[in-house]
Amino acid sequence: MHCIKKITNDLVWVGANDRRLAFFEGVYSVPAGVSYNSYLLTDEKTVLFDTVDKAVRQRFLENVETALKGRKLDYLVVQHVEPDHSAVIPELIRLYPNIKIVCSARVLGFIKQFYDFDIDSHVRLIEENETLNTGKHNLQFIMAPMVHWPEVMFTYDSTSKILFSADAFGHFGALNGALFADEVDFAKDYMDETRRYYSNIVGKYGTQVESALDKVSALNVEMICPLHGFVWRSNLNEIISKYMLWSKYEPEERGVMIAYASVYGNTENAAEILACRLRDKGIKTVIFDVSVTPASEIVSAAFKWSHLVFASTTYNAGIFVTMEALINDLAAHNIQNRRVAVIENGSWAPTSGGLIREILGKCEKINIIEKNVSILSGLKAAQLSDIESMAEAIGADFPAPVTAAQNKQTVPNTVDPNAMFKLSYGLFVLTARDGNKDNGCIINTVMQITVTPVKITIGVNKANYTHDMILKTGKFNVSVLSEKAPFSVFQQFGFKSGKDTDKFAGSGEAFRTTNGVRYLPEFTNGVISAEVKETIDCGTHTLFVAEVNQAFSLSSDASVTYQYYFDNIKPKPQPPKGNKKGFVCKICGYVHEGDTLPDDFVCPLCKHGAADFEKI
Ligand code: FEO
Repeated sequence: MHCIKKITNDLVWVGANDRRLAFFEGVYSVPAGVSYNSYLLTDEKTVLFDTVDKAVRQRFLENVETALKGRKLDYLVVQHVEPDHSAVIPELIRLYPNIKIVCSARVLGFIKQFYDFDIDSHVRLIEENETLNTGKHNLQFIMAPMVHWPEVMFTYDSTSKILFSADAFGHFGALNGALFADEVDFAKDYMDETRRYYSNIVGKYGTQVESALDKVSALNVEMICPLHGFVWRSNLNEIISKYMLWSKYEPEERGVMIAYASVYGNTENAAEILACRLRDKGIKTVIFDVSVTPASEIVSAAFKWSHLVFASTTYNAGIFVTMEALINDLAAHNIQNRRVAVIENGSWAPTSGGLIREILGKCEKINIIEKNVSILSGLKAAQLSDIESMAEAIGADFPAPVTAAQNKQTVPNTVDPNAMFKLSYGLFVLTARDGNKDNGCIINTVMQITVTPVKITIGVNKANYTHDMILKTGKFNVSVLSEKAPFSVFQQFGFKSGKDTDKFAGSGEAFRTTNGVRYLPEFTNGVISAEVKETIDCGTHTLFVAEVNQAFSLSSDASVTYQYYFDNIKPKPQPPKGNKKGFVCKICGYVHEGDTLPDDFVCPLCKHGAADFEKI
C-alpha cells in the first residue's frame, strides 16, 4: 500500500523508510533506520526529484504511481547518483518510457558507470543556473560538487521558494510519521544524528559545503527538501547555522571530548581521573571508549567539542587498533581547528602518544598541548601531578567560572540602567501607510535575524501611531539614518505624534517602495521594506518579525549610532536661565524647571518617562 505525504498543493513526498538496514554505506550504524526521500511535483509537467535505495523500491514505485493519479511522468531530476538515490532509475525508465532524465553531464557519466540502459535517448542535459519551466514552476539548477560526491547538484524551485538539497541538511534516522522538522523536538532528538550524518558523510568537504552555502544564501529559500530526513519549512536557520559552523570546522561547544582505548582498564583510569580534574575546574567533559562506541559517533563528537583528548595503550608497537582506526578516520574527515592532548600507555615501550601526535599534527589548525602523560602499565600516585598538569594546561583555555562567592562580592544582583546604555543601537525612521495616511516615527531597534530568507525584527512602542498602522497593515519601511541626519529629522519624526500631525508635511515629492509605503530619500543610506510574519507582545512594545521583500542602498555615508546622535547631533541642553533648578530629558533635551520631578512625569516632547531625566 502506498504511503505518501503532502508538502504543498502540488508537491508530494513519495520516499520510503528502511529500519532494517544495519549499516548505512556498510559503515555507519543506523539503529533508528534511515529515510530515502523523493519528491513528486505535479505541475503542467510532472517532475520526480531523485529515486530511492533498492531496499524500498516497491513502496516507492507504489507511491509514485499513486501521486501521479494516472498522469504520465515527464521528468526525473537526478541530483545525486549514489545508489541510495538512483537505484530505481532503470526500473522507472521501463515503467515510464517517455520520461526525460534532467541532469548534468557529470551525473550522466556516473549513471552510465552504475547502470546499463539506453539513457542517451532519455537525457536532457542541463548546466549550472539553467532553468526548466514546468508550467507554473521554474526550476533552477545549482551545482554543489562534493556535497557529497562530485556530481551533486541542488534544484531551486523559484516559484515555491523550495530548495531540493540532495544529501545536504539530511540526517540519519527514519521518519516516524512526521515529515517536517517543526513537528518534532529537532534540537533534542535529531541534532546529534544530523551532526553524525554531516561529519561522517560530508565532513571532509567543508570548503565545498561553504561554497554551496554561499550559493544558497543568494536565494530566497522558504523550504528545504533533502534526500534524507525531515523537510524544513520553518526555522531554516536552525539547520543552516549548524552547517555554517561545521563547514568551517568551528566547534559548537566549549568542552573536552575524551576518547580512550584501554585493554585492562588502566588507560581508562587515567582518562577518568583527567575528566574529574577538568570537571573540578567547571569544564564540560564527555568520555568514549573507542572499542565500544562506534567511530562515527566519536567523529561526530569531535566536530562538536572544542578540545579533544586521546588516551591509548600501545599495541604491537603502535596505537591500539580501535584508536588507530579512529585517529585515521578523524584525519580522513579533515578534522581541524581543535586543541588536542594525548595520554599514552605501554608496559615496556609506550609509542602510541607519539604516533597519535604524528597523524593529527598533519591536520590543519590542530594545536597539540605539550603537557604529556605517559604511563607504564598503571597510573601511580606520583603521576597524578602529570594528570593535574594536563588539566591545568587545558583549563588555561577556559575562562575561570565566577564563583557564587565572587559574584556576591563584586556584582550586585540588581538591574543597573546604565548597563543597558552600553548596548549599541542605530537610529531609523520607521514608516507605514494605512489607506491614504502616511506616518513615521523614530526607532532604535532594528536587527537582521536570518539570511535565508532575509528576516528582521523591529521593536516599536505601542504608544506610537505607526505601531498601530503596522499592526493593521503588516507592512513597513525602515529608512536607515546616516550621520548627516540633522536634529530636525529627529524632531519631525520623534517628538510629535502622527495622530495629530502630518509627519511628511513640507517634505516634497513622496518617495515610495513597491509596497506603497513612503521612505526618506534624504539623510538615509539604506531602505528596507518588509512584511510582518509574526508579532510578539512585549508589554509596552511589540516586537515585529518581518520578511524583507525590497532593500536598496542610497549612499555610502556611515549609519548614525545612538552614541553619535548624542555626541554630535542632539543640541546640548541649556541650563535654565537665572538660578532656576530643573531636570533635562536625556533623550530629546527638553528641560523641566522645578525642584522635583514627579515619578510619573512624561516628557511632553519625546514621551520618555522620568527615568530618562537627569538633574541639572
Ligand atoms: Fe544519500 Fe550521498 O547519498
